[in-house]
Amino acid sequence: METQEDFPILEATRAFLAKPKRMLIGAEWSDAASGDTIDVVNPANGCVLTRIPDAAEHDVQRAVAAARHAFDAGPWRYAKPTERERLLLRLADLVESNAQELAEIESLDNGKPVMVALGLDVTMTAQCFRYMAGWATKIEGSVIDASMPYMPNSEMFSYVRKEPAGVVGAIIPWNFPLLMAAWKIAPALATGCTVVLKPAEDTPLSALRLGELIVEAGYPQGVVNIVTGYGHRAGAALARSPGIDKIAFTGSTQTGKLIGHAALDNITRMSLELGGKSAVIVLPDVDVDKAALGVANAIFFNQGQVCTAGSRAYIHAKVFDDVIGRVAQIARSLKIGAGLDPATQIGPLVSAKQRDRVCGYIESGFAEGARAVAGGGAINGPGFFVEPTVMVETNHSMRVVREEIFGPVLVAMPFDDIDTAVQLANDSPYGLSASIWSNDLSAIHKLIPRLDAGTVWVNCHSLLDNALPFGGVKQSGFGRELGRAVIDQYTECKAVMMNVA
Ligand code: NAI
Ligand code: MG
Repeated sequence: METQEDFPILEATRAFLAKPKRMLIGAEWSDAASGDTIDVVNPANGCVLTRIPDAAEHDVQRAVAAARHAFDAGPWRYAKPTERERLLLRLADLVESNAQELAEIESLDNGKPVMVALGLDVTMTAQCFRYMAGWATKIEGSVIDASMPYMPNSEMFSYVRKEPAGVVGAIIPWNFPLLMAAWKIAPALATGCTVVLKPAEDTPLSALRLGELIVEAGYPQGVVNIVTGYGHRAGAALARSPGIDKIAFTGSTQTGKLIGHAALDNITRMSLELGGKSAVIVLPDVDVDKAALGVANAIFFNQGQVCTAGSRAYIHAKVFDDVIGRVAQIARSLKIGAGLDPATQIGPLVSAKQRDRVCGYIESGFAEGARAVAGGGAINGPGFFVEPTVMVETNHSMRVVREEIFGPVLVAMPFDDIDTAVQLANDSPYGLSASIWSNDLSAIHKLIPRLDAGTVWVNCHSLLDNALPFGGVKQSGFGRELGRAVIDQYTECKAVMMNVA
């Protein structure tokens, strides 16, 4: 096991790392039945931080049974809205009062700069619980006047109740581990569902710490269960479990399709937040420096490991050289280092596997004729670092343009007219998001409806808000998270008719 001598961490973080990691199943913290474990690696130096249980079918079924029992037996599903609100607010407070520890855990496990983990991941997690606490008391059904021509003298009272969907199986990725856990757990707790969460095998730690906070907040046993393990084993067991009523997944399109098939076999409702290859469209009227900073942030934020990353830039030919020259300059100037180093702007990628995958894409780009004006490969060392890379002379036949890379790699192409920009932006199997950089209101306004995307940003990118629905079109998935929309995804309608004649 490594020590973290290079950068100071809280005593609480050190204590959390040092203790054995177990899964939250019902009221207990459990090892895998097999006793098998998975090493958790610090991507900044390749050292093993700790080990987690490697759950298999049996462990997952135990967790599903715990969640099923907690849902079916009550009283959680019948808890008063104000009680669900109170507990969520308490959980938000606990996240906030442990913010630095959670941020350090996230940074060590994922590699992201600790300042980002604190300012964004942990802050948004607390706000997500608080926002969803508000919904707990605002879930409303409706009263509907029925007509029924075949019962002329009837006197009916009809209404629609919104009830919790039931047991939610949540499978999440490694790029925003704590926040993605919150995106699934918060609406489940607001609506009265119970949950089995499986964090990504590469980044399980913040979810386990969150589990401790959920217990501390006072949730009844079995309401939230957390199993750790590999996707093909624990994840697949959860997705195909007949004991769950809804599956909520965020991750790759490829895995999303497997989960979708498994869910459909049981007619389990599902929401899928999948990959992206988001277009960044820069119109000719921009301030070059501002636009370049925006384009750089859109791709390099979180080392490019963002489903909404602005990974394809379409820049008007009039400003292409200036904007890309400046983006390349920014790429070269970013300070690369361990996430715990407060000066770090770009941390390591999450794993050696992801570094190799991203570098494989960069190589494929070179082989297909692209050229790098910044970066171009991995950085030697024990950590999993990849240089912020900007590729030009790219086109839509190249894999670097068509496929999700999920790393700090931008492909850039010039365009001459808006119709071409729209055609190129939409020429992707994905449709998660897009951004437009301009102050030409009329052009922006006309462009927005033409883009295949669940979110369009103007003069910003990858900004999310708890109150706005988030999700994709095309192979970026379906269903919406956050906002009012997610409450519908975690509730079911029950129609009631009373004959009151
Ligand atoms: P993944 O989609 O396989 O992993 C996401 C989650 O799904 C993890 O918790 C994993 O354990 C689980 N999982 C994997 N296989 C499963 C299965 N058969 N059944 C049930 N659960 C399963 O993504 P991975 O392999 O970690 O990364 C590969 C690529 O996926 C990345 O390079 C990136 O392109 C993309 N990706 C996209 C994300 C997004 O938010 N759009 C997030 C993570 C990865
Ligand atoms: Mg993986």
